[in-house]
Amino acid sequence: MTTTAKVKQTEVLRRLPPYVFAELDRLKAAARSRGATLVDLGIGSPDIPVAPTIIDELARAARDPSAHGYPPFRGVPRFFDAIGAYMQSRFDIAVDPPREALALSGAKEGLAQLVMSLCGPGDSVLVPEIYYPVYARSAWLSGAEVSWIPMRARDGFVLDLDAISEEDARRARVLIVNYPNNPTGARVELEFYERAVAFARQHDLVLVSDLAYSELTFDGSPAPSALQVEGASEVTIEFHSFSKTFSMAGLRIGFAVGNSDAIEALAAYRTNTGYGTPTAVQHAAAFALDNRLELVPPKVAAYKARRDAMAAAFEAEGWRIPVPDASMYLWLPVPEGVDDWSWVQTLIDEDGVVVTPGVAFGAGGKGFFRISLVRDAKTLTEAAKLIAGRRSRMTI
Ligand SMILES: Cc1ncc(COP(=O)(O)O)c(C=O)c1O
Repeated sequence: MTTTAKVKQTEVLRRLPPYVFAELDRLKAAARSRGATLVDLGIGSPDIPVAPTIIDELARAARDPSAHGYPPFRGVPRFFDAIGAYMQSRFDIAVDPPREALALSGAKEGLAQLVMSLCGPGDSVLVPEIYYPVYARSAWLSGAEVSWIPMRARDGFVLDLDAISEEDARRARVLIVNYPNNPTGARVELEFYERAVAFARQHDLVLVSDLAYSELTFDGSPAPSALQVEGASEVTIEFHSFSKTFSMAGLRIGFAVGNSDAIEALAAYRTNTGYGTPTAVQHAAAFALDNRLELVPPKVAAYKARRDAMAAAFEAEGWRIPVPDASMYLWLPVPEGVDDWSWVQTLIDEDGVVVTPGVAFGAGGKGFFRISLVRDAKTLTEAAKLIAGRRSRMTI
């Protein structure tokens, strides 16, 4: 295929830093071309199928011709009703969904669109120094800058909001937080959100809470919502996802909820660039929310059993790992004295196990790697043995 001078990505797109996951794909493809079979614990794409009852509802809705035209821009009434009931029963928060919620084709695009609807050149976004890539990339795509919020192992990966400089706080339009956290598995209590909401008020910015892992907690205590803080909806918008909780990653569905002006900005961006989220998928998601008390516990039990199987396998090999209380990941230190990329590449090339280097989540992730719990316990146990064995041989 030829390239022409006319097809030229914008300056902004070309200047984005390389996407680490693309480099990981290259390493995987190279290993596969040499005949390797890989156990891919890199990307966090759930292997557990969507519940049959959700699929039945999807099929039913898809057969109804009223779902075949363009969907309403913001969301179908049934999905709004389910969001309202969920926010009430799960978090004890009363929301008026048509005004304070919006259907999305996944939290990721919603997060990006929100940043792009609120920020432009001269603005800045406060992003954790260990972060889900879209937070920073959407800021850069909008022409805004990123200021990093310290997020350290010694603080249990809870953001140090006090360490944000006055200057960074003054320039920021948006502050993004994500707990339960990808990739570290850290979680916070309501007290953290109280401080984040107070920070947003004090510095006149929008608090964006990414709650994609809200239901995946393992100690029986549910994760809070930032919107539970008194008056939070004056400054807060929150993003929810069906990808992990209901394994619906491939159906692309989520929602935003919270401050009505932020919802309005997001809706304005979306209306100008696309249509709403497919109607049939919204019906399936509404069904999932309405039946969460039956559908979620088996998911939590599965990820917990996988986490425990891996932790036990590591321990049997003499490595006591930090065991997270939430999410579907293990976040582990790269062996001392070993370069992050050599570690990941050796695991792929020598052991056939794919993990993600921590630097995929920003400079703050250096020295760590992430394992996604997206295979059954037996496969994960085997992988843990291989990883632990490699660690003993590579540790200096
Ligand atoms: C922290 C976080 N937020 C958002 C998402 C994306 O969610 P969705 O699939 O709903 O776009 C992910 C997916 O891995 C994630 O880890």
